[in-house]
Amino acid sequence: MSQEKLYYPDKELFKDAAINSMERYHALMQEAREDYEGFWARFAKEKIDWFKPFTKVLNEENAPFYKWFEDGELNVAYQCVDRHLATRKNKAAIIFEGDNGDQRVLTYRELAYEVNKTANLFKNRFGVKKGDRVVLYMPMIPEAAIAMLACAKIGAIHSVVFGGFSADALRDRIVDAQAKLVVTADGAFRKGKPYMLKPVVDKALEEGCECVEAVCIVERNGEDIRWVEGRDYAYYELLKEQSHRCECETMGAEDPLFLLYTSGSTGKPKGVQHSQAGYILWAQMTMEWVFDIKENDTFWCTADVGWITGHTYIVYGPLAAGATTVMFEGVPTYPDAGRCWRMVEEYQINQFYTAPTAIRMLHKLGADEPEKYDLSSLRILGTVGEPIDPAAWQWYHEKVGGGRCSVVDTYWQTETGGHMISPLPGATPVKPACATLPLPGIMAEVIEEDGTPTPVGEKGFMCITKPWPSMIRTIWGDPDRFVKSYFGDCKKDGKPVYFTGDGAMTDELGYITITGRTDDVINVSGHRLGTAEIESAIKKHPNVAAVAVVGKPHDIKGESIFAYVVLKEDNGVADEVETLKEINEVIKKEIGAIALCDDIAFVPDLPKTRSGKVMRRILRSLVKGEAITQDTSTLEDPGVVEKIAEILKCKG
Ligand code: WT7
Repeated sequence: MSQEKLYYPDKELFKDAAINSMERYHALMQEAREDYEGFWARFAKEKIDWFKPFTKVLNEENAPFYKWFEDGELNVAYQCVDRHLATRKNKAAIIFEGDNGDQRVLTYRELAYEVNKTANLFKNRFGVKKGDRVVLYMPMIPEAAIAMLACAKIGAIHSVVFGGFSADALRDRIVDAQAKLVVTADGAFRKGKPYMLKPVVDKALEEGCECVEAVCIVERNGEDIRWVEGRDYAYYELLKEQSHRCECETMGAEDPLFLLYTSGSTGKPKGVQHSQAGYILWAQMTMEWVFDIKENDTFWCTADVGWITGHTYIVYGPLAAGATTVMFEGVPTYPDAGRCWRMVEEYQINQFYTAPTAIRMLHKLGADEPEKYDLSSLRILGTVGEPIDPAAWQWYHEKVGGGRCSVVDTYWQTETGGHMISPLPGATPVKPACATLPLPGIMAEVIEEDGTPTPVGEKGFMCITKPWPSMIRTIWGDPDRFVKSYFGDCKKDGKPVYFTGDGAMTDELGYITITGRTDDVINVSGHRLGTAEIESAIKKHPNVAAVAVVGKPHDIKGESIFAYVVLKEDNGVADEVETLKEINEVIKKEIGAIALCDDIAFVPDLPKTRSGKVMRRILRSLVKGEAITQDTSTLEDPGVVEKIAEILKCKG
């Protein structure tokens, strides 16, 4: 069956990798299988600078609210910054490049000073205490990382909200977390032009955010902003008064480190809560294993800090590992499709990590662009966020990686904290566009609902059948939803196990290929969006009676958003193009520009069961132009499927 060519790692390039052979991989896996707690305890002792060592490894008493290293004490900012000062104080911690090419380098010492001053500011000036929530609505500038680490230093829980979210979405997240402080910037630069963030915060705070006591504003683009007396404060002005010395708060291993909101199958986003020790341990270990990070390496992850990829692989992972991390404000296609490759050459990047969407776009806009640059520093190319197709993989491997680099297709989620399934660059023979094998210590299995292994070549549930240190601890304020969302579908040996929401398939090598979400979540350009969230936004359009949203395959974005719309008043006057524009205005307000609809179709009704459930699977098949294989006889009106198919055919 799988006669596809396997790509073997360049042995010379990876001879010093932490895991440099399959023998080593299997030995580690074996170690984890034989003594699961011993395996994790060994690495937790070796990797973390504990203030007080742990004596308990895993506590399963209150499953699935698992606890790891619970009586240990540490501080994540200490792990990421302070502890490196003895050996790396003058090493670059963060290399920043702005949209217009401006640069800033922060050594570990400079980063320590900035983090300390910021921590003092939050604590002394804004009264932020251990356990308080701080919302960060920030552009991609070093101050975003500094603010995250400052929170970690004083034990505050940060919740970074991606800068593309609207005022309404920001407000929901502020209110859900009951944040005391909001940190933002006037705005930043994109494609040579300033864009604004502060006005969005102003709008969000207009109603319902009584919890917010202060807004701290970092100056980035210098544009005029509104200042609210007694609420708004200029970061750099106040920073001057603060000392660069700051004691680390002593944190319990299980204290929350941060919340990060992500979409689920209902309308309300989930505040995924991560812990201190388990999270930072795995962030650091995967930097070492999957990215083979070495002392002199320069690591670049192109994600935004507003997503988990930015948390784990721009800020926490690289810094915990004592590495140099690149932070880029701009977009890969400005001023041209060679931007990334020019930066790889200039900074001599060793690991480059991006999303398939970006790869497809750069391939399309500049297939030969990489040849113009010296990319010989690269050793590892990573992808994340969505399945990569073989064509994009080949281009990445050959044109960007010169056929020499290891390409790692890393599968994971906001909830997993770090990589779960990925090739090891110095060990795993790679099958293009396949995430390959679970990382050592991660019990990732494709199973049926009852835990039996799904036969090779068939689709099953992508589960993690044992708790792991960097896993989600709960959904903020909604523990029941946590249990239901992740532990309600699959069991193994009679015990509920973590289900990712993804389908997957194994081959005869045991390699795992992710086949995509099994729930109502769409993945647009590697961003996870809930259909329910988008639908509830669209329903606010005055002429929409009913709507169903599905993902439609898209060349660049992976999926695009397609809406089936039933109008309230279908008098033949409404125009699809006009209505699409209006609907997108509503989406922009409710969620943000990341969730805009690409296309809509007016339909007479939605295919519903007699109990009123919309048969989304049928709508997904219809938009792909696939034959309908589902049984339509149970529908309230079986004829509607035919009618919709006809409408889509006319649209072309
Ligand atoms: C969902 C998680 C992981 C950080 C970025 C997204 C999809 C992620 C892959 C991959 C196929 C992937 C899954 C997953 N996904 N990585 N390598 N191959 N699909 O984080 O927003 O939490 O989304 O992204 O569907 O469940 P997220």
